[in-house]
Amino acid sequence: MSADQRLIVAIDVNTMEKVQELVEVLGDSVSYYKVGMELFYSVGSQVISYLCAQGKDVFLDLKLHDIPNTVGQSLAALTGLGISMLNVHASGGPAMMATAAQAVKNKAEAMGIERPKLIAVTVLTSINSGEWNTLGYNLDLSKQVVHLARLAQCAGLDGVVASPQEAEQIRAACGDEFIIVTPGIRPSGAAINDQSRIATPAGALKNGAHHLVIGRPITAAQDPRQAVQAILQEMRDRT
Ligand code: C5P
Repeated sequence: MSADQRLIVAIDVNTMEKVQELVEVLGDSVSYYKVGMELFYSVGSQVISYLCAQGKDVFLDLKLHDIPNTVGQSLAALTGLGISMLNVHASGGPAMMATAAQAVKNKAEAMGIERPKLIAVTVLTSINSGEWNTLGYNLDLSKQVVHLARLAQCAGLDGVVASPQEAEQIRAACGDEFIIVTPGIRPSGAAINDQSRIATPAGALKNGAHHLVIGRPITAAQDPRQAVQAILQEMRDRT
C-alpha cells in the first residue's frame, strides 16, 4: 500500500464550507479522509456525498455501540452512502460485532458495491490507567485491548483502532492482515495538543500500523499541503 493510501486526514470541523476549503487546499495530496461525529452530526450525509464526488475514500468514525439489531441496521444504512471504512465499539460484544459485519456484507452485496471495511474501537485512548481501575474490569488495560482485538477478529471484523503503542501487541496477536488504524500521530517537532500516547508517523508504521489518522498537525499547519508532503516523505522513508 502506498504512503498516501495509508494516510487518513481527520476533518474535525463542523461546516461544509470548512470541509471544502480544506479539501481544496490539500487537493490530490490526500486521498483518504476521516469524518467524525461532530462533522457528521453537524452537516449530515452531504459531507460523504461531497467527498465521494471528489474521488476520496471516507472513514466514517461514528463508533457505534448498541444492541446487535440496531447496530446492524444502522451500519446497513451507512454502507449505502458509499463509505470505505466504518467502526463499532468492540465492547458491544461478539454477537453485536458479528451481526454488524454480516449487515455490512449483505448491504454491499445487495448494492453491488465493494464491502466497506469494518473495524472496532477497543479501549478509548483517552482512558488512562487510573480511570481504567474505576471501571472495575479484571484484566489490565493493555491485555484488555489485545483481548478485544482478538474478539473483533473472531467476529469477522477487518481490524481495530488503537494507539500506536498498542499496535505492536495487536499485530503480534492478530497477524499481518488485520488492519490497525492509529490516531495519536505527531511528526517530530509538532504540537502534541491533547494527545498523550503518541508516536511519529515512522514510529507508528514500525509498530505495525496500516493507516495513520492525522488531524491538527495537518489541518492547523500554516501550509497544510506542505505538512502532508513532509508526513508522506517520512512514511515513504520508513516503508
Ligand atoms: O488532531 P489529531 O491528529 O489529534 O486528530 C486525531 C483524530 O483521531 C481526531 O479526530 C480524534 O477524535 C480521533 N481519535 C483519537 N483517538 C482515538 C480515536 C479517535 O484521537 N482513540
